[in-house]
Amino acid sequence: MPVMKHKFNRSFPNTRLRRNRKSVFSRDLVQENQLDPKDLIYPIFLVEGKNKELPIDSMPQINRLSIENAVKTASKAHKLGIPAIALFPNIEPSLRNSNGQEAVNPDGLIPRAVKAIKKELPELGIITDAALDPYTSHGQDGILDQNGYVDNDLTVSILCDQAIVCAEAGADIIAPSDMMDGRVGSIRQRLDTHQKINTQILAYSAKYASHYYGPFRDAVGSSNTLKGDKKSYQMDPANSEEALHEVSLDIIEGADMVMVKPGMPYLDIVRQVKDEFNMPTFVYQVSGEYSMLVNAIEKGWVDRKIILETLLCFKRAGADAILTYFALETAKTLTSNKT
Ligand code: PBG
Repeated sequence: MPVMKHKFNRSFPNTRLRRNRKSVFSRDLVQENQLDPKDLIYPIFLVEGKNKELPIDSMPQINRLSIENAVKTASKAHKLGIPAIALFPNIEPSLRNSNGQEAVNPDGLIPRAVKAIKKELPELGIITDAALDPYTSHGQDGILDQNGYVDNDLTVSILCDQAIVCAEAGADIIAPSDMMDGRVGSIRQRLDTHQKINTQILAYSAKYASHYYGPFRDAVGSSNTLKGDKKSYQMDPANSEEALHEVSLDIIEGADMVMVKPGMPYLDIVRQVKDEFNMPTFVYQVSGEYSMLVNAIEKGWVDRKIILETLLCFKRAGADAILTYFALETAKTLTSNKT
């Protein structure tokens, strides 16, 4: 039972909570949380080539874009008031190997995309991932030792190189989504020694080993190659105290913002993290959440307005910003609702 802060007697019939709900004006006045395009971050999938817009079967309406199309989409996001985008690559299978070397290629897909977008849209925030899964032939986020275990410290040193490549290309925020121990501190140190003291770190601090990532792995092309699961580094969905421990370490190591992922089934974690640390707390509404909602909407089983409801719930749970594949559509809806 929640402890009531105020012991005075608020009871029926003196109190009728429906009074405030009766009219629109009143509901507007008492509304505790709002959703704004400024709360949203749009993830964009990239692919090599010219004028490409390749659909992703498990993510209706989301395409893998070649760089010039990504610039156009980024520009749409910017015009709609979305502050930042997050970039994810789908690279040629021939470029993937056991060491994920392509992740540190300064002429790779991500650094080129960052440069192209920054050139057109210098004010739009660009977030790039620090993780090796789109680059490894085995689909794991790091380098495997001879037993198939992801080697933490070796992986961290490559993530630092990846972070520098992205920061030098112009990325504003590096987002380690790999869940290696100590990577935030190492990346911070490496950025600083490269005079990138103002490059921010958005730590995927409480990232769970989740089945909700399935469609994303299709999008970046790692689902066919991925052997096994990611439970030796991503968190057990059963745990919440461990999430607070993870977040505390990332804050000590220098994270500027922390993130919980997935979103909707993990709202309790978002709330606990926000209350415990009062840090900028982001949440990722991941691919599986997106595809489930889109499917139910397209079937006519639920109304499209469920999207706004879901995103607002993230705000209510304490999130400051939301990564969502619905960002473009939502920013459009919010803007047209206002006029
Ligand atoms: C990989 C990464 C994943 C996502 C973001 N970065 C997948 C994974 O950990 O397997 C998932 C995002 C989504 O499902 O939308 N480091």
